[in-house]
Amino acid sequence: MLDLENLEHRARERLSATMYNYFAGGADDETTLADNPAAWKRIRLVPRVMRDVSSVSIATEVLGTPLSMPILVGPWAFQGLAHAEGEAATARGAAAAGTAMVVSTVATTSLEDVAAAAAGSPLWFQFYLLRDREMSADLLRRAAAAGYRAVVMTVDKLPVPGRRRRLAADRFSLPEGTGIPNFGYAVPEDHDTGPDEYLRGLLDPSVTFADLEWACAECRLPLVVKGILSPDDAVAAVEAGAAGIIVSNHGGRQLDGALATADALPAVVDAVGGRVPVLVDGGIRSGADVVKALAIGAAAVLATRPVIWGLVVHGGPGVEAVLRELAAEMSHAMALCGARTVADIDRGLIWGVACR
Ligand SMILES: Cc1cc2nc3c(=O)[nH]c(=O)nc-3n(C[C@H](O)[C@H](O)[C@H](O)COP(=O)(O)O)c2cc1C
Repeated sequence: MLDLENLEHRARERLSATMYNYFAGGADDETTLADNPAAWKRIRLVPRVMRDVSSVSIATEVLGTPLSMPILVGPWAFQGLAHAEGEAATARGAAAAGTAMVVSTVATTSLEDVAAAAAGSPLWFQFYLLRDREMSADLLRRAAAAGYRAVVMTVDKLPVPGRRRRLAADRFSLPEGTGIPNFGYAVPEDHDTGPDEYLRGLLDPSVTFADLEWACAECRLPLVVKGILSPDDAVAAVEAGAAGIIVSNHGGRQLDGALATADALPAVVDAVGGRVPVLVDGGIRSGADVVKALAIGAAAVLATRPVIWGLVVHGGPGVEAVLRELAAEMSHAMALCGARTVADIDRGLIWGVACR
């Protein structure tokens, strides 16, 4: 049994205060950051009994990607700051646990090198629509050529980066020797601006649903939109061609005061009405949280911060251990809920927020 809370303490001890704040922090007053995990905890399960749970399977498939568990590794930037092997170690850890990693565009390793490290295990590529559409289209082509199975287009960071007080206080900037190889960017000498300043010049704040339509048409892979909280936006994204929706508020790092994802999920699931899979992230900290998300109607969840702490403390094996712990907790919660497979998990299992 791995104590995920303790893992964060151990990671904190290993990191500089600036680096810990970069990974752990949120925007402004960090209200949404705190509310994400709290909202999952507020939901109560109504277990069913005597349902022969002598064998429980949590295996599933999302958009043609087979997964050992309905938990993907969420995209997060600059993994080389967490561990010397960065994204390659995370990819190996996710592969060892049998699940998919969503690789950030803003990685310290090129998307091709992460694919080589994953050795055939499923990867999805996280993408931002850039001001330069040819560069955007090139990233989509490169992801398909490198064997990625889906593209995740993040839309909640495009207009402007969140205001993270902890980072401003720490004057966070990328160390020399790092960069963003997917953009061919290397940190210049004597720089003192953070990565968000550089990204501000690249990311397109004028993006609309018409641009999403363009991206869906350009993309040879299923394109999933990440960063949706409004049911109306979810419907507009599906109508523009999205193959999936990720209910997300960027882990409380963008708009502070935004709705917790557990609270946003029911209305989005209902509005999408099964046309495409709906995934969710933000504050997933236990296997029971995953069961709650699936009970509301999510096809899978993404775990990010717990995986960061695993990478910091133990590298790739740490990533694997975190995923296996969440999977073990999930199987245990399912057995106690009387659910043998993920298909057995439905809204009948929850009481509270999602049922009102
Ligand atoms: C350090 C850090 C970097 C992140 N970088 C990205 C990114 O590059 N692209 C992206 O779509 N989301 C990014 N996210 C957001 C995560 O994908 C995810 O939505 C969020 O972390 C979920 O909240 P949780 O980790 O508290 O569960 C980042 C999150 C963190 C903590």
